[in-house]
Amino acid sequence: MPKYKTALVTGGAGFIGSHIVDALIRRRIKVYVVDDLSTGVKKNINPNAHFTKMSILSPLFPKLLKKINPDIVFHLAAQVNLRQSVVDPPGDARINVMGSITIAHECGKLGTKKIVYTSTGGPMYPEGARIPYSEKTPPAPISPYGISKRSAEMYFNYAYHVHGMPYVALRYANVYGPRQNAEGEAGVISIFAERMLKGQPTMITGTGKQTRDFVYVGDVVRANMAAMNRNVVGEFNIGTSRETSVNTLFKKMAKIIGYQLPERHVAAAPGEVMRSALSYKKAMKFLGWEPKVKFDDGLKKTIKWYERG
Ligand SMILES: NC(=O)c1ccc[n+]([C@@H]2O[C@H](COP(=O)([O-])OP(=O)(O)OC[C@H]3O[C@@H](n4cnc5c(N)ncnc54)[C@H](O)[C@@H]3O)[C@@H](O)[C@H]2O)c1
Repeated sequence: MPKYKTALVTGGAGFIGSHIVDALIRRRIKVYVVDDLSTGVKKNINPNAHFTKMSILSPLFPKLLKKINPDIVFHLAAQVNLRQSVVDPPGDARINVMGSITIAHECGKLGTKKIVYTSTGGPMYPEGARIPYSEKTPPAPISPYGISKRSAEMYFNYAYHVHGMPYVALRYANVYGPRQNAEGEAGVISIFAERMLKGQPTMITGTGKQTRDFVYVGDVVRANMAAMNRNVVGEFNIGTSRETSVNTLFKKMAKIIGYQLPERHVAAAPGEVMRSALSYKKAMKFLGWEPKVKFDDGLKKTIKWYERG
């Protein structure tokens, strides 16, 4: 018998959330999805999930939470775009901070058994800190997105201390895989795939020497299942510890797709982070998790999904 019989996945129509929904349903857990479909799409939602189209900011949401009274909540609904958070910090904070506080507060009162919160790795740590970033590096986010994700972690920590509601915050690296849209943190893979498959010019921003830590969505789902099953609390990096430059990514994808056009560069995005990778030592020790999918294999699976359209 699973420890948890019912789960709520906020953002379950999105890229990562929908894969978590599938994994929970495979484990015979009854799954509820709340999503306002702002960036998620209905066709991502597993037909066996109970779906309500609603914003977590709706005044009706606490009532719905009470009605569902889930054993566990996977909280992924968020404003996911770092650049958008700079354009509209209050809008980012409304969803990422206020929405998360509602969940921490209401679930704390309901006695929800566990919260698995989706945080972020790269924007959390100070640039210049030793790579790969470890959780021992004190968070020092400078973007509204990083700040809102850190605030939410702290509210879940508050709810743990005040209501005794355990939480695990998973700080993802750049997640990629099927169903990804171009807005998220590893959007570059989705943008490259769409353009290369159409034979369109594909631009690299800046020198292309900037690095990212790409982690496959299937590995991220396994991290969520470990967070559900293990008796642990706190923040965990979910990444591969490996840096891949955007130039290398371009070459790898061009080779798989058979893309012939030359590499082209455009001006770097202002404030672009030059290096990023997350150590997964803590996740390995406490969650028994490590990334398993090789980058080339994950890329092939992802490209195949884009090919199918
Ligand atoms: N993709 C990455 O590389 C990455 C890295 C680190 C963290 N994350 C986090 O992972 C989570 C999922 O991101 P994703 O990449 O799957 O993006 P996504 O845009 O596919 O998923 C976000 C989902 O949340 C929903 N949503 C947004 N605002 C909502 C609201 N107010 N009420 C209800 N639903 C709402 C969207 O419709 C969407 O389905 C987010 O919390 C994001 O910050 C993603």
